[in-house]
Amino acid sequence: MNDISVSTKNLSKRFGNFTAVDQISFDVRRGEIFGFLGANGAGKTTTIRMLCGLLIPSSGEAWVNGLDVNTESETIKRQIGYMSQKFSLYQDLTISENIDFYGGIYELSDLRLKQRKDYLLSILGLEAHRHKLTRDIPLGWKQGLALGCAIIHEPPVLFLDEPTSGVDPLSRRRFWALINELAQQDTTIFVTTHYMDEAEYCNRLSIMHQGKIITIDSPGALKNMYHHRTIEDVFIHLITNRI
Ligand SMILES: Nc1ncnc2c1ncn2[C@@H]1O[C@H](COP(=O)(O)OP(=O)(O)O)[C@@H](O)[C@H]1O
Ligand SMILES: [Mg+2]
Repeated sequence: MNDISVSTKNLSKRFGNFTAVDQISFDVRRGEIFGFLGANGAGKTTTIRMLCGLLIPSSGEAWVNGLDVNTESETIKRQIGYMSQKFSLYQDLTISENIDFYGGIYELSDLRLKQRKDYLLSILGLEAHRHKLTRDIPLGWKQGLALGCAIIHEPPVLFLDEPTSGVDPLSRRRFWALINELAQQDTTIFVTTHYMDEAEYCNRLSIMHQGKIITIDSPGALKNMYHHRTIEDVFIHLITNRI
């Protein structure tokens, strides 16, 4: 079981009478890029928040990096990386100061923080801009910086919730180059996106609708299974047949 990085079994979340996540079960392998697709309101963010130890499941089980979300959520929070759908950076800190802040949260030593900061600024192409205020930089840079902050402590599992929403194509390409590099180093990537070109970069995709997972497979297998040329067509086909 060591190569399983994220696992859920009948995981559910209810808010009052409303079931936002309905008995979902799946496994994600270590180093896999797992795309978590679904229309707005499908239950993606709620699932991610349970897996990050931020929201208590109503029922069911889940493990992240071998830790139980029901009993070990505090340890999970320290170990994983999470880039939330809402903006997580401090707008009135500089790029460099935001990285320092996250380094502090994860208790990196001064030396380690310097090494990680130099590496991340370089790979994100932000060295020359490190003293700019975050509020003044373009969205593509902000999302790159948020990714950098989420991986400052080299987490084995990284949750990215719509990390490239509203970001231009060039910045999105750079962002995905880094995601690929992380996956090659055995980081597990759990990512939601509405961009179907990005979905094609994932090793496997899950398609969620009204709290349930409809299907999980590789992009190629899904296209074969549903006889469509693109993942966008597969997605539309699966969702519209259920509304
Ligand atoms: N704290 C909450 N209280 C009540 N309903 C919620 C809460 N959080 C999310 N929901 C509802 O759960 C459903 C799934 O939301 P969410 O997980 O954010 O979906 P997604 O990320 O796929 O867009 C939505 O209908 C949303 O309104
Ligand atoms: Mg969401």
